[in-house]
Amino acid sequence: MNAPAIVASVLGADYSRLAGEVRDLQSAGVDRIQWDVMDGHFVPNMTFGAAVVGACRPHVDLPFEAHLMVEDPDPVLADFVSAGCNTVIVHVEACPHLHRTLSMIKGMGARAGVAVNPSTSLDFVAHVLDQLDHILVMTVNPGFGGQEYIAAMEDKVAEAREIADRSERPVQVEVDGGISADTAAAPWRAGADLLVVGSAILDHPDGKGVATEEIRQVLT
Ligand code: DX5
Repeated sequence: MNAPAIVASVLGADYSRLAGEVRDLQSAGVDRIQWDVMDGHFVPNMTFGAAVVGACRPHVDLPFEAHLMVEDPDPVLADFVSAGCNTVIVHVEACPHLHRTLSMIKGMGARAGVAVNPSTSLDFVAHVLDQLDHILVMTVNPGFGGQEYIAAMEDKVAEAREIADRSERPVQVEVDGGISADTAAAPWRAGADLLVVGSAILDHPDGKGVATEEIRQVLT
C-alpha cells in the first residue's frame, strides 16, 4: 500500500501569522494544506473566507483544498477556486442538489469532493460518482480541532474505498479528525489516500517537522 498524503489543517494555526504558518507547514514536509471554512451555521464555529486563502496562496507551492463546512456552498465555490484551491469539498448534508454542485466545481477546473459527517451514510455516493474526485470521511463531528478520533468510522472508510475503486476515474479517499501518530495507521489501512491532520502537527511540542515525521513513521 502506498503511504497516504498528509494534509495539514490550518484550523488551529496562529491566525496572526497565517502565511508564516503555511510556510512552516511546507517546510515541515506536509503534502497539502486544508482550509476548514466554517460559517457558524452548518457548524457552531466561524473561521476564514476565500480572501484569507488567497492571501496565503502566493506563499507556498502546496496544493490547497477548501473544506466547506457551510450551509449553502454554491454561491462561494468560485471564490475558493479563484483563491487558488485545487480541490473544493462540500458536505452532502448541506447540498440538496449535490450532483449539480459537484459538476459546478468541476466546471471551474477544480477537483470536486464530498464530505460526510459521522452519522451520514455513503449510500448517495453511487449516484454522483460520475462527478466525484474525492470523498472525505469525517472522523470527528465537524466544527473544532483537537477532538477525539472516532474509530467506528473505519468501516465507513473501507466502504468509501470500495465505492471509489468502482469509479472509472481516480477517486481519492480522505479522513479528517483526530488523526495523530497514534490513530493514523488504522484509517490508512482501511483505505484512506489522504489524512488530514491539525492539532497533532500544529500543537506538537517538538514542532511541525518532528510531528509530521512521527506520523510518516507509522505509515510504512
Ligand atoms: C473539524 C475539522 C478538524 C480539522 C483537523 O471540523 O475539520 O477535523 O480539520 O483537526 P484535528 O486534527 O485537530 O482533529
